[in-house]
Amino acid sequence: RSTSDPVSGQADFVVVANRLPVDLERLPDGTTRWKRSPGGLVTALEPILRRNKGAWVGWAGVPDAELDPVVEDDLELYPVPLSAAEIADYYEGFSNATLWPLYHDVIVKPEYNRAWWNAYVEVNRRFAEATSKAAAQGATVWIQDYQLQLVPKMLRMLRPDLTIGFFLHIPFPPVELFMQMPWRTEIIEGLLGADLIGFHLPGGAQNFLYLARKLAGQQTSRGNVGVRSKLGVVQVGFRTVRVGAFPISIDSGQLDEQSRSKSIRDRARKIRKELGNPKHIMLGVDRLDYTKGIDVRLAALHELLDENRVDPADTVLVQLATPSRERVESYVHMRGEIEQSVSRINGEYGEVGRPVVHYIHRPIPRDELIAFFVAADVMLVTPLRDGMNLVAKEYVACRSDLGGALLLSEFTGAAAELRQAFLCNPHDLDSVKDAMEQALNQPKEDGRRHMRALRRQVLAHDVDRWARSFLDALAHGGAAGPALIAP
Ligand code: ADP
Ligand code: F6P
Repeated sequence: RSTSDPVSGQADFVVVANRLPVDLERLPDGTTRWKRSPGGLVTALEPILRRNKGAWVGWAGVPDAELDPVVEDDLELYPVPLSAAEIADYYEGFSNATLWPLYHDVIVKPEYNRAWWNAYVEVNRRFAEATSKAAAQGATVWIQDYQLQLVPKMLRMLRPDLTIGFFLHIPFPPVELFMQMPWRTEIIEGLLGADLIGFHLPGGAQNFLYLARKLAGQQTSRGNVGVRSKLGVVQVGFRTVRVGAFPISIDSGQLDEQSRSKSIRDRARKIRKELGNPKHIMLGVDRLDYTKGIDVRLAALHELLDENRVDPADTVLVQLATPSRERVESYVHMRGEIEQSVSRINGEYGEVGRPVVHYIHRPIPRDELIAFFVAADVMLVTPLRDGMNLVAKEYVACRSDLGGALLLSEFTGAAAELRQAFLCNPHDLDSVKDAMEQALNQPKEDGRRHMRALRRQVLAHDVDRWARSFLDALAHGGAAGPALIAP
């Protein structure tokens, strides 16, 4: 079938995510164009979809866009419309003011609002219906992330012929926290519509198995879940649902190659020059999100400056922050606090034409971002909680010169794999300060050794391996399952 004819809805492989990989941008002159969507999910899945020639069902990022299926830059897109009220209730409300904080250790207090829940159910149903229309008989459908946890069950009721996978890109919370959720049973039952449910870490899979037993009353396997191995099992009537840990990654080979190009190397040198040729460049690259611990790294830097442990004459921090969820109250508040910290540090320690912190609040083009990774001596990844954190892996993939140092929070999924980083506890400011100081002053040879080990991990475990391990487990399921324990 020709990809220029997506309307026939015969896709054999369908990715379903809240957002399409591109957002529709409405320009002031009334015209529109597509631009890359924010976030790690798109970074990871876009190359997978290209290689598997699938379709992508998702929202175009603007209200009330009734769009026909379209092929954009060789990707087959099936837009799902959301009204302004649904964006407020389903996306900003239930997804990002209820689920997001609940699943990230309640860093801010989750709000439980019945109208938001109703919108979540409604929009999940629309996604299920749109997917049902796009998928061919017997197709494989891969549903993504916390915004769509009810879709697996809804889609199974519409289309029992499909093979359905679900992957959660954010942490799955401890049982004690999940139990706060007023609609906890509906969510677990929604997920159980899938044939395979994937998490980044074994801990998330194990939390889920416990809840499937306690809340949904299903029999589950008892042993520990492994990484890409030893899947857990939930017996739902005659159906066997598998549960596993599949740590996501990046297109590391591609990034490695791009970062070696002469133009990127030249640009990295130019960036250092533009910053005044400092001895140390520290870098932060994040969506502006309270989970990322941007405030933590600024506080650590501020104290190190106060204590003369960092010299403002030879050290800069570049913080690249993509705007995110700008109408959600906790994000508005956090932005104010971060911008205040930046100006306080610069007010106290900057000179005219030479700030200590360079703060950019807009998305940076991909090539420019890679040049920043190549230029940075210390990469700061300090989330209070993060499902994986792809930025940490991107930095490592870009350092074929074996230069640079990675400061990494223990509370990221990436910390389970990147053990040679400078690990820190972002809840303990002294731990962050010490790790920052060590990273800034590490002997060159030690740095090369650490970076070599980190690169071995990131280059061997790329996003293709992630997708392959998930899709193979989804296709083959596995024969006789382990012994089950009753609810
Ligand atoms: P999340 O999915 O929570 O946003 P990740 O670290 O897993 O976090 O993924 C973020 C993705 O967005 C990465 O691919 C990263 O390079 C990209 N990104 C983050 N900040 C920026 C920025 N300021 N400009 C451009 N891309 C960014
Ligand atoms: O998993 C991280 C994630 O929340 C994705 O689901 C999402 O697409 C991305 O970050 C960006 O967030 P948003 O779509 O809310 O801008």
